[in-house]
Amino acid sequence: MSRELPGLKTVRLGRRLLYFDELASTNAYLKENAAVLPHGAAVIAQSQIKGRGRPGKSWSDPAGAGLALSLLLHGQNTSDISRLPLLAGLGVVFSLEAITGESFSLKWSNDVLYCGKKLCGILCESKIAAQGTSAVVGIGVNLAQTQPDFDHLGLVYATSLQLATGKIVPNLPLAGEICNQFEQILEDFEENGFNRLKETYKSRCITLGKQVRVITGKTEQTGLACDIADDGALICEIGGKLVPIYAGETSVRGLYGYA
Ligand code: BTN
Repeated sequence: MSRELPGLKTVRLGRRLLYFDELASTNAYLKENAAVLPHGAAVIAQSQIKGRGRPGKSWSDPAGAGLALSLLLHGQNTSDISRLPLLAGLGVVFSLEAITGESFSLKWSNDVLYCGKKLCGILCESKIAAQGTSAVVGIGVNLAQTQPDFDHLGLVYATSLQLATGKIVPNLPLAGEICNQFEQILEDFEENGFNRLKETYKSRCITLGKQVRVITGKTEQTGLACDIADDGALICEIGGKLVPIYAGETSVRGLYGYA
């Protein structure tokens, strides 16, 4: 169906919109069709039947209750890809704040939280092809789920925008604002590099300064989350050594709860 994103002010992000009532996964769709779609193409599905989460988990999307948005970014430097999840997280925080007037925080690498509960997850995937590396940034925002929806799925630390703030936000205007904010962040990154954005990210990241569990598959270590590296890794002090943690297959949890 042909639609436009309300309030869109971008040059590229979200200008080409593909909207579906149902898809397996908006990320999977964009990865499969990356070669024939332009930079900035956005895919939105009203519901996903095989939404992908991280690391290797599924993402549940009751029809119409959330925003499932994926954005295609062509021409990525492979060295920049590990910072993309952090930049996307900031873009979502800024857009939720612009729309609701509430404050949001980030749990490394890019879970967006409200009062310690997760209301958005982001999955960045890259695709290397002969014509260059493309990235797919997949953003899932819980908008209108109820507490029984989360209880039913056993998601103890999840919330939705409506549940947490009482605000009803439709998916398309939020998608438009995410494109606006994320495009500005990407321009800032291209022009000025990561340093200043990293400081902004750190000011929103509630993981820093906390004792955390670093979980990779069946292995778990405990450490102090100290800093964010220039490549976006979380620097943890584990057993007296500073260790960079990369998002890929690893989850970071608070010692006494989710964050
Ligand atoms: C996470 O587990 O925290 C990441 C979840 C990412 C979900 C979004 S919804 C839109 C896009 N399509 C997918 O299949 N996954 C991402």
